[in-house]
Amino acid sequence: MDPGDHRRIRALIQRELGITLGEDKSTLITSRLRHLVEKYALSSMDDYVDWLESHRDAAALGELADAISTNHTFFYRESAHFECMAQRVLPEVVERLRARNRFDLRVWCAASSTGQEPYVLAMIIDELLRNEANRWRAGLLATDVSQEALDVARRGEYAADAVSVLPERWVKRYFEPIDEGRMRIVESLRREVTFRRLNLMRPSYPFQSRFDVVFCRNVMIYFSAEIRRAVASRIYDVMSEGGYLFLGLSETLERGATEFRFVGPGIFQKPMRSGSVIAGEE
Ligand SMILES: C[S@@+](CC[C@H](N)C(=O)[O-])C[C@H]1O[C@@H](n2cnc3c(N)ncnc32)[C@H](O)[C@@H]1O
Repeated sequence: MDPGDHRRIRALIQRELGITLGEDKSTLITSRLRHLVEKYALSSMDDYVDWLESHRDAAALGELADAISTNHTFFYRESAHFECMAQRVLPEVVERLRARNRFDLRVWCAASSTGQEPYVLAMIIDELLRNEANRWRAGLLATDVSQEALDVARRGEYAADAVSVLPERWVKRYFEPIDEGRMRIVESLRREVTFRRLNLMRPSYPFQSRFDVVFCRNVMIYFSAEIRRAVASRIYDVMSEGGYLFLGLSETLERGATEFRFVGPGIFQKPMRSGSVIAGEE
């Protein structure tokens, strides 16, 4: 396959999915997309790009996203963030809402992959609010561009080994064994998470109410600096004042190019007009 083929497919992947693949990723592109080239009886990557350009529909792009995106995730990944969420961010946000007599907490997990991350967030929320469950509407929206990842997430079935990293009380409360070596998230928790397909490259995000907490971890690493800035700015627009954004521990926002306030590694806050930070940090 000549390099011209890969330039075009790389440009299309960046434009449609945000994912920036360097010239050194030719082998990866070929191996991940070969089955699609064959599925449509095309003879080259170049023909596949032509085919995609003429079928720019959600299904064709969805297949491309499934093939090209890296869905690697695991329970309790970058656990410091979940601890910060449970011990500091969520209690603070809940207190603020309570003080305003608003009992609707809104959390968005924006690159939820196969579900491990949003389910842990649902566990943290449930643990904090379970005694007042009747009072609160705690919506957790989990989105990803990959339909295949969302299908796995909705099933909520995982290898028991992968689940065992979680605190034992969560395993007992939120999982049921299904067969040898596999466990499923209990239905009551699965119901708390709404999974939807959403491409972060959309020009704006289609939400009516604002989010108090957004997790968008380990996806910005695939984006260029320009796309990262644009995505962060669109996320900012759908967050409530004082709301918290979690990126991956190794991901950051350029100071000066964002209105978010830096809180800690991978943690940012949308400022409140009156000013509010987690005590002891800034
Ligand atoms: C490496 S996984 C990270 C999963 C999880 N957030 C974590 O930290 O473990 C990256 C996810 O981002 C998703 N993704 C990639 N490009 C995207 C886009 N343009 N819009 C939405 N999701 C995207 C991929 O499908 C994949 O599930």
